[in-house]
Amino acid sequence: MTGGWADDDARNVALYTRLRGEHGDDVRALNWGSRGSQRRRFQVLAEVGDLDGASLLDVGCGLGDLKSWLAEAGHRVSYTGIDLTGAMVDGARERHPDGDFRLGNLLDDAGIGPDSFDYVLSSGIFYFRQDRPRAFLEAMVARMAQVARLGVSFNTLSAWADRREGDEFQADPLATLDFCRRISRRVVLRHDYHPGDFTVYLYPGAGA
Ligand SMILES: C[S@@+](CC[C@H](N)C(=O)[O-])C[C@H]1O[C@@H](n2cnc3c(N)ncnc32)[C@H](O)[C@@H]1O
Repeated sequence: MTGGWADDDARNVALYTRLRGEHGDDVRALNWGSRGSQRRRFQVLAEVGDLDGASLLDVGCGLGDLKSWLAEAGHRVSYTGIDLTGAMVDGARERHPDGDFRLGNLLDDAGIGPDSFDYVLSSGIFYFRQDRPRAFLEAMVARMAQVARLGVSFNTLSAWADRREGDEFQADPLATLDFCRRISRRVVLRHDYHPGDFTVYLYPGAGA
């Protein structure tokens, strides 16, 4: 794992390997507070566009719960998941034997070139970061925008939340939006669905 964030990547792998060992398929293995909040985040992410018939990359796919949620919600997508943590990818493959799940880091190329997917979605990969978390978010979002033909949708903990979350990274929504609008002017900030979280939609190709 490289991309400049090897220590944080290793911390993520250690955390999620431990949580998966402790909690199995339970939502606590993903470090979410509840199944409901996980699913609400999926719903907001999926509102980025018309996903029907689209190809979709899920960055930080965990156990592949977004794949299940999309099917239950009636979205017919061609789904690919990628995750840093081997225990998560193994679990996702066990739970979805027909799924395309890859172990890797999108920032390291991962064999994924520009415009490889219609949509790139990501839920929960930005909060557990200590080393230049804002720069990590920006590098990852820029890479996701390179890989997506139609849209990018990602969420993260918000600096507008009432609570400080220990040493977790809570991103500034407006600074994040300002970064995204330098990639494309077609951007949306959603800060309406959860008290401590926001989602950005970014549509590549509209110029800065
Ligand atoms: C909070 S969990 C969310 C999992 C899934 N998105 C969900 O909502 O069920 C975060 C996941 O992101 C993975 N992850 C963290 N940083 C990542 C990165 N840079 N690239 C890919 N996966 C990452 C972790 O291994 C973990 O499985």
